[in-house]
Amino acid sequence: MPVNSLSPQRAPTTPAILTLPAPYAAGSMLSSRELTPETVSEILALATQLESEDPLKRATRLAKRRIALLFYESSTRTRTSFELAAKGLGADTTLVSSLSSSIEKGETLKDTGLTLKALGAEAIILRHPNSGAPWLLERETRLPILNAGDGMHEHPSQALLDLRTMLAHLRPGETEVTAETLAGVTIAITGDILHSRVARSNMFLLPKLGARVILCGPKELLPEVAAQAGPGIAIERNFERALGEAQVVMMLRIQAERLAGLQLDLEEYKTKYQLTEARLAAQASSALVMHPGPIIRGLELTGEVADGPQSLILEQVHHGVAIRMALVYRALTLAANPEVGA
Ligand code: CP
Repeated sequence: MPVNSLSPQRAPTTPAILTLPAPYAAGSMLSSRELTPETVSEILALATQLESEDPLKRATRLAKRRIALLFYESSTRTRTSFELAAKGLGADTTLVSSLSSSIEKGETLKDTGLTLKALGAEAIILRHPNSGAPWLLERETRLPILNAGDGMHEHPSQALLDLRTMLAHLRPGETEVTAETLAGVTIAITGDILHSRVARSNMFLLPKLGARVILCGPKELLPEVAAQAGPGIAIERNFERALGEAQVVMMLRIQAERLAGLQLDLEEYKTKYQLTEARLAAQASSALVMHPGPIIRGLELTGEVADGPQSLILEQVHHGVAIRMALVYRALTLAANPEVGA
């Protein structure tokens, strides 16, 4: 009898869109698919520059510029770090969330976006349950859009902060990346790959820098087709074997809000895929442990692992502010150039 304490709360979002138009607005960050090593290097260098700058000088960079955060799903890390990033650059921010705005009355994404633009927003940071929503918002508003997570599709700023965290440990001091930077590095992404926009953005980004990505999880959460997402990606169902090959272990939570009726035996899942101290000690005693958060202690990993010496979970959160400062700055400065792709 399946045990499932993770009851679905919402219908599934639309499947990931495989072919999407190029960005219309310069400065948008919609997907990690569009990133080249050169662009990633520019973002990493900008993040480092802004992070090390005197806070008073930094706060003049985007003084009184207007940025809207439009969140249709809950968030702690992404929302707070984007807001701190924008404020750290001196920008004025406003948060519109689906539960306290006219979205509750039925206003569409297009009309909400156009309203924010009419109020003076120069860029919009969007989290939305539907895959592809940032592309629609960009097309309708022609503003730079920063994708803060669209359904089961992508979360590119998370992939960039994950990369910065990895580089700090594996390639300290390097901010310029090439197609070889992560050669010889294997990253085991484990858990609910099917519903994870973080997994997808990392799967698109990391192999471009030479990394090998192993996806690990049960068939219900990791369909065979995932191995065809791009070069440098393989599936390994056995967690011990995946751990044994990994220099980085990226754990993912089971996304209860997107399971939509899928029944999982959580005890069996934990037996096979929970990251425990014993598993780490036996298979990956020097691997870096990462997780985008929120973590569910006692499910995908134990509290001891989350708090343990190999865990970079809070470092990832920390890197989020610098990466998002770079993305926000880029959005408003590149946007000063004429629109592209219109
Ligand atoms: N990693 C991440 O996107 O976390 P939040 O949902 O808290 O923003």
